[in-house]
Amino acid sequence: MVQAKRKILVTSALPYANGPIHIGHLVEYIQTDIWVRFQKMRGHDCYYVCADDAHGTPIMLRAQKEGIEPTALIALMGRDHLRDFTDFGVEFDNYGSTDSAENRELVTQIYRRLKAGGHISTRTIKQAYDPVKNMFLPDRFIRGTCPRCGAPDQYGDSCEVCGATYAPTELKNPVSAISGATPVQKESEHYFFRLGDFEDTLRTWLFPDITEPRHVQAEVANKLDEWFSAGLQDWDISRDAPYFGFEIPDAAGKYFYVWLDAPVGYMASFSQLCRRAAIDFDEYWARDAKPELYHFIGKDILYFHALFWPAMLDGAGFRKPTAIFAHGFLTVNGQKMSKSRGTFINARTYLDHLNPEYLRYYFANKLGAHVEDIDLNLDDFIARVNSDLVGKYVNIASRAAGLLHRHFAGTIADLGPGSAASAIAQDVIGNALQAAARIGESYEERRFGAVVRETMNLADAFNQWWDRHRPWELSKRFEHPAQPQDNEVLHAICSAALEGFRILTLFLKPVLPELARNAERFLNLGPQTWKDLEVPLRTGHHTNPYQHLAARVDPNQVQAMLDNSRENLTMTSQTPVTAPGAGTAVIEEIKPEITIDDFAKVDLRVARIAKAGFVQGADKLLQLTVDLGEGRTRNIFAGIRSAYAPQDLEGRLTVVVANLAPRKMKFGISEGMVLAAGPGGKDLWILSPDSGAQPGMRIK
Ligand code: 2FM
Ligand code: ZN
Repeated sequence: MVQAKRKILVTSALPYANGPIHIGHLVEYIQTDIWVRFQKMRGHDCYYVCADDAHGTPIMLRAQKEGIEPTALIALMGRDHLRDFTDFGVEFDNYGSTDSAENRELVTQIYRRLKAGGHISTRTIKQAYDPVKNMFLPDRFIRGTCPRCGAPDQYGDSCEVCGATYAPTELKNPVSAISGATPVQKESEHYFFRLGDFEDTLRTWLFPDITEPRHVQAEVANKLDEWFSAGLQDWDISRDAPYFGFEIPDAAGKYFYVWLDAPVGYMASFSQLCRRAAIDFDEYWARDAKPELYHFIGKDILYFHALFWPAMLDGAGFRKPTAIFAHGFLTVNGQKMSKSRGTFINARTYLDHLNPEYLRYYFANKLGAHVEDIDLNLDDFIARVNSDLVGKYVNIASRAAGLLHRHFAGTIADLGPGSAASAIAQDVIGNALQAAARIGESYEERRFGAVVRETMNLADAFNQWWDRHRPWELSKRFEHPAQPQDNEVLHAICSAALEGFRILTLFLKPVLPELARNAERFLNLGPQTWKDLEVPLRTGHHTNPYQHLAARVDPNQVQAMLDNSRENLTMTSQTPVTAPGAGTAVIEEIKPEITIDDFAKVDLRVARIAKAGFVQGADKLLQLTVDLGEGRTRNIFAGIRSAYAPQDLEGRLTVVVANLAPRKMKFGISEGMVLAAGPGGKDLWILSPDSGAQPGMRIK
């Protein structure tokens, strides 16, 4: 079936520039990338753009803390993010930043149009203000006692203990999380976007007639209905200086709230692509634009994408999205990702241990069209990769290639009508080709789990077919065939198996682009597109010698990744970034304030390092025996190997956390923590007390 060429623009949510990419993020980028690759394979003009979400208070404060400019910080983070995405095979047509000239221009244009349309109003509001830092405090940066349940140290907008949500003014004993000062209430003029002006537009867009296409998933429409019932409130789009963002035109000292310029970043990133690739920006964004526009997002940011964003676009004379595809969150082994369990896995840590395509494959298995959460069960991950991907799909190629190269110089037999191969394999190949339409539909509808299941069923069918024909027996008798046609049959079986492998590779290619590339190289074919389904391997086509396409996952690799994720935490909760030409800057997590009582719980002691040694299989760890005085010793695995040799440490005094609950690691039990500072690598220093301190002394 020939389908008209479509023009499609696709985005994923823009990751914040204040932290590394982790596997929770990757669900979305992998989901989007698979869909985009599928569209490209179908021959459509499909563009995938994204950017770093670079503005806002957290980024400003983080840069301050590091003593670098926010622009330097976001440059480093943007570079790291793109590197992580690229290594996971996520291929953008453009990756920008919301702190770009294009974005400033578009945001300004949109704002001016909204203002001219009467959709911006101003009024003075009272807000919490940090009198020491001289800045207004976002709710998240105020801590205090929950007005409902009395739990101490809760955020300014919600309580993590009882789940209450409230205004920051209701919080008891509020303090600024930045300076510790008690916030005061201060007035300031704010700019508001009048969302209510768009109620009718939004209703028609979100709840179309049954005959019209939907713009959001059904379950999302239900959720949004609740928001309409609650009433559409004006949206505060301004923030006072100091703020890292774009200043509002004609409003000195007022900045656009990060969430106003973030989605405009989709347009800005696309406009960079347009300039580079001579694409007509207006064709994609004008009010009556024909091309399709899709935003892949997480369920937590629906309000912004399904209400504010289409309203802003409408008010500024642009088109609205064709659809918003929301997905759920990732859990690992059935639970929220957790730093202490080692399941808060950064993209880079995963890459240090495992093949990125295995995560793509596993996520694809789990992804459907709904907003459900998905679970990465690590035992299941190992099983799926080993028994399905390697054991079923790759197995077809490795078995067939071995025999084809041994006896037929890797050359394909005639597969055409009337051939021996056609007689033997027409059913199994015919079934695979027939599945193409269904698989294509599943891709289109983002039911990737169905794609993978169907493809693996076909792989099963090929393996069973192979076993039924027992080609290895024909191979054994190759020099002295029992029947004159045996060798021809053997050639036909191997060739048909590789044709089957070619078809399955094509089906899996959006999920496993790198594996597919290697398979194409082995089959000696150019990049396969969906159309090539109809182009079987030619008679006499020469395949390349088979090289291993995918290795099984060793459970030890998974364990090492978890240990490593925990190590990252025990070492320092820091992400080192290297500033070009500026040595190394350390980006530290901003920790919530603790009370003196919290601090008193930590038993810090002077210890003498009695013994130090390497740990086999752990390139970051040293095993230490520390002496805490009076014959008390502890075993500690410390992530300091990059900076210290064991002989430098033996005999030294240092400081340890002596009451840390013992932790089981792959290499044994660790019974404490050595304190160290620095960005990591060679730049890491353990603490040493002044001379005179004795093992066992408590640090107060
Ligand atoms: O929630 C987030 O991580 C935001 N940085 C997403 C922004 S998406 C878009 F609107 F820019
Ligand atoms: Zn509470």
